[in-house]
Amino acid sequence: MEAKRTKMLDDRTRDEIRALFPRYPSKRAVTLPALHLVQERLRCVPYQAMAEIAEVLEITPAEVHDTMSFYGFFPQAPIGDVRMWICRSLSCMLRGGDELLEHACHRLGIEPGQTTPDGKLTVEYAECLGICDYAPAALADDGRIFGPLDEQRLNEVIEELKAGPVEPAGKSS
Ligand code: FES
Repeated sequence: MEAKRTKMLDDRTRDEIRALFPRYPSKRAVTLPALHLVQERLRCVPYQAMAEIAEVLEITPAEVHDTMSFYGFFPQAPIGDVRMWICRSLSCMLRGGDELLEHACHRLGIEPGQTTPDGKLTVEYAECLGICDYAPAALADDGRIFGPLDEQRLNEVIEELKAGPVEPAGKSS
């Protein structure tokens, strides 16, 4: 007899996805917000979770995968407590963004896209973050932005981020 697979999306998450239905023209249109919801909850969207999102939305896993792979924002393995992107697009690159990414990774003993062994911080590169005024800039997934950065300020930022995420400003409850 085949063992029953444990579900990755609990009832609360499924209900929260369904609660989005009235706000969108179709269930398929809920794909992106559902991915964000699952990403926030699991810190990743593994294949099984992707298939379960498809089940809730009554579409195929391939359709969820299409959206997921288009954005490149949803890792399939768990990420750190805080995810940091260091920009490597033109304005930041001209002001040392690439070197700062290298510096951060070297300091943490990881490669871009990896998470520190203590699970506290994931460092990734990003294309323009939309904060070129702060070049060279970085963004944390709790909404904090940093810049202009130099190596010393980046070291401080790394320590701030390793202390854990902060509640986004203005977020209630
Ligand atoms: S180029 Fe780095 S934020 Fe725009």
